[in-house]
Amino acid sequence: MSELQTEQRSGAYQAHFRVWRGDADGGALRDFEVEVHEGEVVLDIIHRLQATQAPDLAVRWNCKAGKCGSCSAEINGRPRLMCMTRMSVFERAETITVTPMRTFPVLRDLVTDVSFNYTKAREVPAFMPPAELGPGEYRMKQEDVNRSQEFRKCIECFLCQNTCHVVRDHEENKGAFAGPRFLMRIAELDMHPLDAAPAGGVDRKRTAQDEHGLGYCNITKCCTEVCPENIKITDNALIPLKERAADRKYDPLVWLGNKIRRRTE
Ligand code: SF4
Ligand code: SF4
Ligand code: FES
Repeated sequence: MSELQTEQRSGAYQAHFRVWRGDADGGALRDFEVEVHEGEVVLDIIHRLQATQAPDLAVRWNCKAGKCGSCSAEINGRPRLMCMTRMSVFERAETITVTPMRTFPVLRDLVTDVSFNYTKAREVPAFMPPAELGPGEYRMKQEDVNRSQEFRKCIECFLCQNTCHVVRDHEENKGAFAGPRFLMRIAELDMHPLDAAPAGGVDRKRTAQDEHGLGYCNITKCCTEVCPENIKITDNALIPLKERAADRKYDPLVWLGNKIRRRTE
């Protein structure tokens, strides 16, 4: 059997990959020809590259099933999970460029330091259980459960955080902006009917505006477009949170309360 016949029968072909290699001190794109088999995803090709030509290539992954959120990268400039990007979406002659997420500092090759996200996560106060209810006594409407469920599909891949232009092009905004993933978390908690934060003195709407940078978001929906879990981050979390924060600001009772508080301080 000729080489061509073998290729036709197995569906294998050589793809041209351009992969960023380097570390915090700098790096460059490197070119590789890598074999591709039918049904494979980009992560398979990166693994084959490791196994055959670049054994020290750094890449983060765990599940290869789109559930651990580890293998985030930029493929032809688009933020995606490598394990969920099928090779069949590209032309065989196309050069496939794989680079690390741009918003976070590079550690090595395709691996970035995503600790920015853990810092932001810690800044959001956790769910506060209602004092008057014990375990097993929580009751919620199904629509409230469904709303939380959508947000809880998040796999913490941080592709939305990487994509948001507020921090992607503006390192200086990182201190003041939590990013879509964590504004979504605040929205989830603020809309939670049993969250006792207000009684505990935590005003999630105010902190979203004043401490987590909700005002920086101009609802471009870029975060929503890259979410591998198809969570409607902007429509279902960020816009409602903005509306709730605005309602609070222009609520005459809140306005009066703030005025009285300012006078007595
Ligand atoms: S909708 Fe808001 S959070 Fe999402 S990418 Fe746009 S500016 Fe960022
Ligand atoms: S909201 Fe979507 S894009 Fe953002 S971290 Fe969660 S799963 Fe990833
Ligand atoms: S390896 Fe787990 S999401 Fe890709």
